[in-house]
Amino acid sequence: MEQQRVGFAFCGSFCTHARAVEALEQVKARYETVVPIVSERCAATDTRFGTAHDLMREVERICDRRVIDTVEKAEPIGPKKLLDVLVICPCTGNTLAKLAAGATDSSVTMAAKAHLRNGRPVVIALATNDGLSASAKNIGALLDKRNIYFVPFGQDDPVGKPTSLVADFSKVPEAVAAALAGQQLQPVLVGR
Ligand SMILES: Cc1cc2nc3c(=O)[nH]c(=O)nc-3n(C[C@H](O)[C@H](O)[C@H](O)COP(=O)(O)O)c2cc1C
Repeated sequence: MEQQRVGFAFCGSFCTHARAVEALEQVKARYETVVPIVSERCAATDTRFGTAHDLMREVERICDRRVIDTVEKAEPIGPKKLLDVLVICPCTGNTLAKLAAGATDSSVTMAAKAHLRNGRPVVIALATNDGLSASAKNIGALLDKRNIYFVPFGQDDPVGKPTSLVADFSKVPEAVAAALAGQQLQPVLVGR
């Protein structure tokens, strides 16, 4: 098992949670310490894709530890240097916008801010219907930012949802390993 400590943060892209949980399982199979983080929206919202309670229970079981679900619980990640890498999977358009703007009003953005202050990598697995519209400028800003890496992403349904972008969640473990080595996993853009 690898000794680097991984933070694994879920945002409210509810339709991708099943795939994100699979990615979490793959990461946990490789790294001994995986710290689960959930946005407040995730922790409080039941949808047709599942209940918040079931998601919390599942990620806590996989990681064998309680979720970080508030700004207060995420803050020590900075001063205590709790993580070597933080992956945000899935990352919503909302959280992308906050990261690009430097806003910190959620558990996930607090975790990212705290962790980035230590000069350590953040890996984004985006999932948003406006990736090629409203979120495009935020993706561009983050591509250009130090210590931010992306899980390779592409258009998931170019005809039905022409502005939608989704990461290839099966590449999360590889993207995390690359980021820990200071590299962006290539190619960044994947075809479907
Ligand atoms: C059923 C459902 C599915 C959603 N799917 C997505 C999604 O795939 N991508 C996205 O960016 N936002 C999605 N949203 C909207 C986000 O949940 C919303 O912007 C929320 O404020 C995100 O908060 P967070 O980024 O703190 O998790 C969805 C909302 C609902 C209710």
